[in-house]
Amino acid sequence: MNKVKTWEEYSEEDILEANIEKYNKEEIVKFYQDFDEPKYSYIEYTVIFNTLLQFLHKHLKHPVRAVDMCGGAGKAAFALKSCDAECEVTLVDLADKMLDIARLKAEKENISCRIILQDAFSFLANEAEEFDLIVFSSALHHFKDPVTLLEAAAKRLSPQGLIISIADPNTKIKSKRFRFLQFMASNRQLKKIAIKKSFNNLFNAGNKNGAGEEDFDVAEYQTRTGINDVGLSNDIKRAGLKPLIHMRYPAGEPMMTKIMPWLGLSWAFSMVMCHHAAFDHYHTNTDPLKREIKQNLPYRVKFMI
Ligand SMILES: C[S@@+](CC[C@H](N)C(=O)[O-])C[C@H]1O[C@@H](n2cnc3c(N)ncnc32)[C@H](O)[C@@H]1O
Repeated sequence: MNKVKTWEEYSEEDILEANIEKYNKEEIVKFYQDFDEPKYSYIEYTVIFNTLLQFLHKHLKHPVRAVDMCGGAGKAAFALKSCDAECEVTLVDLADKMLDIARLKAEKENISCRIILQDAFSFLANEAEEFDLIVFSSALHHFKDPVTLLEAAAKRLSPQGLIISIADPNTKIKSKRFRFLQFMASNRQLKKIAIKKSFNNLFNAGNKNGAGEEDFDVAEYQTRTGINDVGLSNDIKRAGLKPLIHMRYPAGEPMMTKIMPWLGLSWAFSMVMCHHAAFDHYHTNTDPLKREIKQNLPYRVKFMI
């Protein structure tokens, strides 16, 4: 009998394959096609991108060259274009069907965006590419080793450029309080799925992913524990990067975004990073950026740096 791998045994290649399979599946693609945004859902994208693009404009003499890595249907790529029409945006993803959604939108709304079907590591290995803004939106959790990915991204980053990770889960998503609140706020359909999943976990514990290991989605590798964002902000030194801004915020359904910060349950994090040399130049100027982000978001955010 084939032994199913434990969480630790999965390799970056296994996770890549799981992602290719998952994000070409009809029901997943349909979810991204039909997704109806709650009022505040993605407001952080425009608020943070506006702030960073303005900042970059002060330091660059040319239009910002941006890439939305693992960009899927192009949420971040299109948000960048809406903030700055001059921004040269590239969208990279490994799932052609997700990119089809972006292609359709770009054509329908006449948005210019270079769209590339490739996995992240292969794209970042291309020495001909250089970017001023590299975006990972809800992406780092799809990798076994986010620091190695950021190291590859740092090699494609212009000297004054910024890397931003946005909408990735921190370890709070695993707290019982968070899961309870999320359950209470979900609709009937999602409640049914959650109940079914917890029953499956209860009965399959010990015979699926190893003794007592909870069922998990390999494609969403880091969601099993959530990303230790504080650890990450130290570990990126290995990638030659330094964090300029690190914030936690609630994200999602409007009512939840109001409640979660007061319960200490802001589950998403965003980190803005740059090369060491740029850090020396930039870090004394980050307070106005943080103030602007804070003022323009309709919920409470916590700056870790
Ligand atoms: C949770 S979705 C996020 C999509 C988009 N960035 C957003 O914020 O809506 C994760 C995306 O990452 C892509 N992906 C996962 N692993 C990847 C890899 N190794 N290289 C490129 N894309 C990848 C998937 O195809 C999927 O579109």
